[in-house]
Amino acid sequence: MGAVCCRSQPIDFEGEVNLFHFLLLRCVGKGAFGKVRVVQHKQTRDLYALKYINKAKCVKMKAVPNVIQERRLLEEVRSQPDYFPLLLFTGTPNQIDHPFIVNLRYAFQDDENCFFVLDLMLGGDLRFHLERLGSMPEETVRFYVAQLSSALSFLHDMGIMHRDLKPDNILLDDKGNAHLTDFNIAVHFGERKLTGIAGSMAYMAPEILLKRGYTYHIDWWSLGVCTYELIFGRRPFKGRSNNDLTYSISKDPLKWPEDAEKKCSRAGMQVIKGLLERDSSKRFGCKPNGEGFQELRRHPWFKPIDWDTLESKTQTSPFIPDAKKANFDASHELEELLLEDNPLKARARRANQDNLSAEMRQMEEQFTPYDFKKMQRRSYYPHNQHLISTATATSSGLASSRPGTPANDLRVENSGLRVEGADRVDGGPMYNNHSLDLHPADELNTKDRDTRRMEKPDDSSYA
Ligand SMILES: Nc1ncnc2c1ncn2[C@@H]1O[C@H](COP(=O)(O)OP(=O)(O)OP(=O)(O)O)[C@@H](O)[C@H]1O
Ligand SMILES: [Mg+2]
Repeated sequence: MGAVCCRSQPIDFEGEVNLFHFLLLRCVGKGAFGKVRVVQHKQTRDLYALKYINKAKCVKMKAVPNVIQERRLLEEVRSQPDYFPLLLFTGTPNQIDHPFIVNLRYAFQDDENCFFVLDLMLGGDLRFHLERLGSMPEETVRFYVAQLSSALSFLHDMGIMHRDLKPDNILLDDKGNAHLTDFNIAVHFGERKLTGIAGSMAYMAPEILLKRGYTYHIDWWSLGVCTYELIFGRRPFKGRSNNDLTYSISKDPLKWPEDAEKKCSRAGMQVIKGLLERDSSKRFGCKPNGEGFQELRRHPWFKPIDWDTLESKTQTSPFIPDAKKANFDASHELEELLLEDNPLKARARRANQDNLSAEMRQMEEQFTPYDFKKMQRRSYYPHNQHLISTATATSSGLASSRPGTPANDLRVENSGLRVEGADRVDGGPMYNNHSLDLHPADELNTKDRDTRRMEKPDDSSYA
């Protein structure tokens, strides 16, 4: 009798990318529908971040369109076309690269999860650092704000607004450069303003909350909130309830902490004030045709920044993350080891894909594989617009993600709050125009990442 062969099948690196191509390493983050962990490509030995999203959970939370949209936008904005240098000259304007946005390298799915393989940002996210440091030196924040302004201006030129700019979604590479990530609720915008509430409430511009219609200007407001929070270790507007926070964001005068002048120069405060301007036509960054960004660049606060070389990432960041320490919350790894009853594992696909629900089939068909070494980037716009707009969310209670995001961090789209219908833009593509009503009872159903703080929203260093 011959011995039973227990060797695994050889990996087909020439075939479509799948989880068998990667070695699974430690967990570094947790999102709304899944986790983020370090992986190594078994053939190239390159390290990446793997963000995976449980499909069943995603269907339950009515977030299928968001995940497909995130995958499509990430492909569109992915940077460094080193494998297709000719595309630089022949690609459409929608396919330009940018150094301060986290790149998508691969996308694929199995029966259980959708996977994004992204550039690994070993420096951790700014929420992680902010929680440890309390606040950050003005010089460091200026460096991040310059890099993020450049990323925002790039996205806006492409007609994309991010809508979820906050410290959790700003990742540092090992050299301390800031990158924008998490395109889960990003959308293309046109001339017509959007009215659907989307974002993390504490970072939302007043025009979103007041439902008067908004456009890409909202990202500059969020950048203002982040700048204030990073420098002073607290946020500019606060409220115990969603209503209070809405009132504060739309009405309260901008106040500075008592020790503000010790932490921030007058020029820095001017920039924050300019970004937190309620009239978006006067807000820094918002003048049309890129003029807003040019004006911001010329502001005296940015004098120490060499804008000409910034995007080459050759400047030394004022804060270099400690390479000897893990810049991630260790609880993610512990939780995976101790509490995960269904640990991630590469599994062959079921042969029979019949009998899938409509949503599962949509994911199957539209979360298409992507391989940065084999495929050209493309834009799905305007065909992607109807994806999110046709979603109606009625279920409740998104899983909370890792601790740290403060109270009132409400990322509401498809988050379990009531969403009513989708508007259609005259003669054009569908936009993300949900009208969404917040009711007091909804507040505990929000996508708040720290439920403890949700219960005691006044008890935090951010209050
Ligand atoms: N490329 C990456 N490199 C390193 N860490 C990452 C990377 N992408 C994400 N993370 C970590 O995982 C966390 C969650 O990722 P991300 O924000 O993309 O997911 P999410 O599902 O949108 O989360 P949430 O909805 O809770 O904001 C990030 O805040 C970050 O700490
Ligand atoms: Mg996030």
